[in-house]
Amino acid sequence: MSAGQAEHWAAELSLMGPGISEAVAWAGLVIARAEGAMVTDTGGNSYLDLMGGAGVNLIGHSHPAYVAALSEQIGAWLIGAHASDARLGALRELAALLPADLDRVQFYSSGAEAVESAVRLAKSATGKFEVLAFWGGFHGRTATALAATGGARAGLGPAMPGVLTTPYASCYRCPLRARYPECGLACVEFARDVLREQSSGSLAAILVEPVQGRAGNVVPPRGFLGALRELATEYDALLISDESMTGLGRTGTVLACAHDEVVPDIAILGKGLGNGYPVSAVVASARLMSVGPFGRPSASSSSFGGFPLACSAVSVVARTVREQGLAARSAALGAEFLDRLRALIPVTGIVGDIRGRGLAVGIELVTDQASRTPLPKSRLRAVFTELLARGVLVMTGGSTLRLYPPLTTTADELDRAAGIIADTIAGTSASIGAPARP
Ligand SMILES: Cc1ncc(COP(=O)(O)O)c(C=O)c1O
Repeated sequence: MSAGQAEHWAAELSLMGPGISEAVAWAGLVIARAEGAMVTDTGGNSYLDLMGGAGVNLIGHSHPAYVAALSEQIGAWLIGAHASDARLGALRELAALLPADLDRVQFYSSGAEAVESAVRLAKSATGKFEVLAFWGGFHGRTATALAATGGARAGLGPAMPGVLTTPYASCYRCPLRARYPECGLACVEFARDVLREQSSGSLAAILVEPVQGRAGNVVPPRGFLGALRELATEYDALLISDESMTGLGRTGTVLACAHDEVVPDIAILGKGLGNGYPVSAVVASARLMSVGPFGRPSASSSSFGGFPLACSAVSVVARTVREQGLAARSAALGAEFLDRLRALIPVTGIVGDIRGRGLAVGIELVTDQASRTPLPKSRLRAVFTELLARGVLVMTGGSTLRLYPPLTTTADELDRAAGIIADTIAGTSASIGAPARP
């Protein structure tokens, strides 16, 4: 961080609450402009941006079509949830991408707001009120979302009643100490036990991330989401897939649930849906969405839901994903990127696990591969800072480096990123004395 940028941060922090993203604060950047996969700070230094606003940058910073559409919309009109070409465009573009069964969209502004709405929809549609969510999950910081979010409730008192939680299929750190595939998805059997022991018999929905983002891009094994689909049906409950992080192609398919051939009853979209403009959506069938109270007039609206600027953003993002085949591109580039990164595991001591789907990648760092002890935060920060010094900006979560390049990133940029990450981790392994494998 240059002296000028440090001074800028000090000025902001003298006026702003401190609870901002830790990785953003660690980076300490003051950004002047951004384009594609690159951000440039006020000192003229450019960085490959694999943080992407924590998974928001789907089609690239300042995509020309995006800038043109939003600039035109600002000049036309901004306020009101009236019908508009922008909204019709957004709805049609989403319909062209999403599974045919999910044919109704309700717009909101943030992921957490959409999570709350999706749960209200599930309660309306089932007449029941409990939600089953997963350890390690992240769904936002509003009441129900927070109750369904792991590890973020300390000091905040009792969570929203009616939210039950159970272990995710997090195989590198299986909470059941089981091993896939021999376990036969023991976590799903455990979820059955949780429901049997703890549910009051009123399960409305299973709320799941198809890849757990904040937990470090944890990819569940094949069959997990399908088994949850069956579990939901068994309990006459709905399956809600929180695709805020994964939706619209990030993991190589339009919805990440598709990797397990699952179509959820309700999908939540956010983050990349607006590529920087704050917009989210709840997507479900017409049949579900019309059930009261959710489907009654004004019962599921919000002040900014469906405003024209947000819809312009959605329209451009969804069209770009469709026209440029960005989901397939993410699958192909992500597979190559992962292969390249995986070559690190046998040669460096602090890489515990490398995982990912499409262009959502996690590199979990440990003190040593045998004990799998998470790398302490100070050491993680050292890796983060060294990466930044070499021109690569990443996201973190626990002891994991989380990488979210835009789906438009070039193969060269990814290659460069992989090389820098490899060198940095190898260098850091040596400097902290972690054992290098032969
Ligand atoms: C899967 C998931 N759901 C919901 C949210 C909450 O979104 P927001 O921060 O827009 O409220 C997040 C944010 O990281 C997320 O990753």
